[in-house]
Amino acid sequence: MRPNFFQHVHPPSVPAEQARWRYTLGAGGIAVFLVLVLVVSGMLEMFYYIPSPGEAALSIQTLSYLVPFGGLIRNLHFWAAQLLVVVMTVHLARVVLTGSYAPPRRFNYLLGLALFAVAVLLDFTGYVLRWDTGIQWALVVGTNLVKSIPWVGGFFYRMLVGGNEPGPATLTRFYSWHVYGLALAAEILIVWHIFRVRRAGGIAVPPPKLRADTRRISRGELVHREVTAVILSAAALLLVSAVIPAPIAPAITKITAASSDASAPWFFLWIQEMLKWGSPFVWGILAPLAVLAVLALIPYALPQPAPQDLGRWLPPSNRPAQLVLAAITLGILLLTLLGLRSTM
Ligand code: HEM
Repeated sequence: MRPNFFQHVHPPSVPAEQARWRYTLGAGGIAVFLVLVLVVSGMLEMFYYIPSPGEAALSIQTLSYLVPFGGLIRNLHFWAAQLLVVVMTVHLARVVLTGSYAPPRRFNYLLGLALFAVAVLLDFTGYVLRWDTGIQWALVVGTNLVKSIPWVGGFFYRMLVGGNEPGPATLTRFYSWHVYGLALAAEILIVWHIFRVRRAGGIAVPPPKLRADTRRISRGELVHREVTAVILSAAALLLVSAVIPAPIAPAITKITAASSDASAPWFFLWIQEMLKWGSPFVWGILAPLAVLAVLALIPYALPQPAPQDLGRWLPPSNRPAQLVLAAITLGILLLTLLGLRSTM
């Protein structure tokens, strides 16, 4: 009998080494949980959200302050999205710093990167749906970056904003991308990504003959660990959502990038900072794409980690990839801090 998806992802037993917290940090599983929270809370928000420039911000305020548990649902959606970016980054770092992207997991690493990009775009499109004064930078400067692409920029810009400048059609476009275009792509990529983890024999550890620890844990024990991770993450998410409300400012009356609180969302502050260096096409489009390309090339262009080195952190045979990731992380972190300073 062919196993169903659950059985495929949870075989009767797995090597104990594959399910160590200290190795995986549970980050992939927590990311799946956050995505589920986002899907459910997002669908609930759709009952109240009105995707029209005159009513979007007001409908969010109604949801937050007048609908029973509406504020909590919105905060859960907002915080799950922010945490997902952090948890995905931790997961990506774990995969690179343990060399787990090595064959046969190279393609799955690329699927993971695609997921990362789609999740960040979902965060960005969701942020614009507020249609309040805080999102003006994203709306004007962010979409203008597309216009800066030589030859085809104008065409893609009109496709993105639905006209020659941002307006009511822009909100409809962003809403559609957010609730089904990108959301569907993310859902397909997640199922594919998880399917491929199991296809590759589960989490990367050395082959059996090179393994010191040959113990195995049962499906029940694996599910027990996953449930523990979900309970702890749910508690943390509920706590943050109960204490810190998601931001909402007055509705946009006139579209301009120059409002006093206009800045990029936190995960794009590093790009906002680079834009100060000159050409929007070079620093706003090419540079972020170059970062993505360097990450995508790690499993293909750098020396492969040795099989006996798998299943542990910072193996010596994987140094070049570790250094590349450290340089990228440091650069983005530094630029984000500079960006934060200039928004204060
Ligand atoms: C929404 C985003 C993501 C979700 C939901 C997700 C989910 C998962 C899950 C559940 C696992 C198995 C458990 C674990 O390793 O913790 C996994 C493994 C893996 N992920 Fe992801 N992931 C995401 C993003 C990424 C990213 C950004 C990358 C890297 C570019 C990536 C690359 C991998 C690789 C290579 C494995 C296999 C690791 C190994 O065999 O040790 N994933 N992912």
